[in-house]
Amino acid sequence: MALATADLYPADSSLVEARLAIGGCDAVALAERFGTPAYVLAERDLRERARAAAGALAEHHDGPGRIVFASKALPCTAVLRIFAEEGLGCDVASGGELHLALRAGFDPAVLYLHGNAKSDAELAQALDAGVGTIVLDHPAEAERLDALVGAGRRQRVLVRVTPGVDADTHASILTGQAGSKFGMPPAAAAELLARDWANLELAGLHMHIGSQLFAPDPWRRAAEALAPLGRFATYDLGGGLGVPYTREDRSTDLAAWIAGMAQVARDAFGSGFELVLEPGRALVAQAGVTLYRVEAVKPGAVGEQIVAVDGGMSDNLRPMLYGAPYEAALADRAGEDDLCQVVGKHCESGDVLVRDARLPGPRRGDVLVVPVTGAYGHAMANNYNGVPRPPVVLCRDGEARLAVRRETYEDLHARDA
Ligand code: LLP
Repeated sequence: MALATADLYPADSSLVEARLAIGGCDAVALAERFGTPAYVLAERDLRERARAAAGALAEHHDGPGRIVFASKALPCTAVLRIFAEEGLGCDVASGGELHLALRAGFDPAVLYLHGNAKSDAELAQALDAGVGTIVLDHPAEAERLDALVGAGRRQRVLVRVTPGVDADTHASILTGQAGSKFGMPPAAAAELLARDWANLELAGLHMHIGSQLFAPDPWRRAAEALAPLGRFATYDLGGGLGVPYTREDRSTDLAAWIAGMAQVARDAFGSGFELVLEPGRALVAQAGVTLYRVEAVKPGAVGEQIVAVDGGMSDNLRPMLYGAPYEAALADRAGEDDLCQVVGKHCESGDVLVRDARLPGPRRGDVLVVPVTGAYGHAMANNYNGVPRPPVVLCRDGEARLAVRRETYEDLHARDA
């Protein structure tokens, strides 16, 4: 029994005679039982990552700490419930994500409400629910919140600072650069922090410089940009650790990143503070794969095969939005004989899931697997071309359970007024 390409598949996946199993469940059998496309997640992998993250923070940070799952990466109630059980906090960026986190059973005290355009309704929803921490995006929001909280209460807040740091990632997922739509420049933060707020407890600072990042240096420079603002009880350094999507990509280690972030925080802020980190992708990406069925195979222009599957940009927007690379494999046959372009079923030529896959003689009916789809796949799924969104299936010790059912055609018109 071999582990299926270590970094790209869930920790408890396996290959037995070239048949892929996720969490002990045979991938072809899963495709038959739940249909395709389907998001399949390994529950043990999710739990192990959560434990490794919390353990690394406790080990490397000398003071209180909290790992807060950025729920935008995988806003699925069953997954949120798992992370709540594992003792993580949860970052919510809208009233909808807050609703899901509460439904999943998170203690409101460990929720962090984010957003650069929070409505009064969302702020009131958070106050009613008893959300522990609200991350202030701009000074005018502080004034609105101070008024909404009302006399006799104090709401814990963090101030989101835009450190003015560029990092090496796709421009669409860079957030800490000068002029970013998120947060406030250090000078505006300093002014906000110097004022008296009747109903706000200014617990500390927040930053999040971007996503799918690998080099530690931008986090260090960002923390250094926050340091002159003073000493605080809490620093939240955001998330953003990258993951490998293909075998050519660097592998990353969540626990090592956390150790590095604790060092960055210590160097910038000294000791005796609470450290909060908000990984999203790195907690869930490799825990999930997407299963597709091959619907058509035809010759391409330069000797490659065009392999069309029954999903595409409706279940994985990342190739379209960021030119993100992925790999593909067949669930029950090994080999990399044929150069293939794996395309989706949508009415756009850019609907390509994998540009240069190597597959062993793909045929109509094969189950095709795209790994590393646990983050921002289900989250950004859509109904383009009237394609119902896929189910989410959780696997553990050979048992598979449906966490989110597939949409039906009736769901497509359920909101008709
Ligand atoms: N904290 C804040 C305030 C964030 O805005 C984000 C992500 C995170 C934490 C988690 O970042 P992560 O560890 O997942 O990189 N749709 C894009 C990613 C957008 C991320 C937005 N914010 C993608 O598919 O790559």
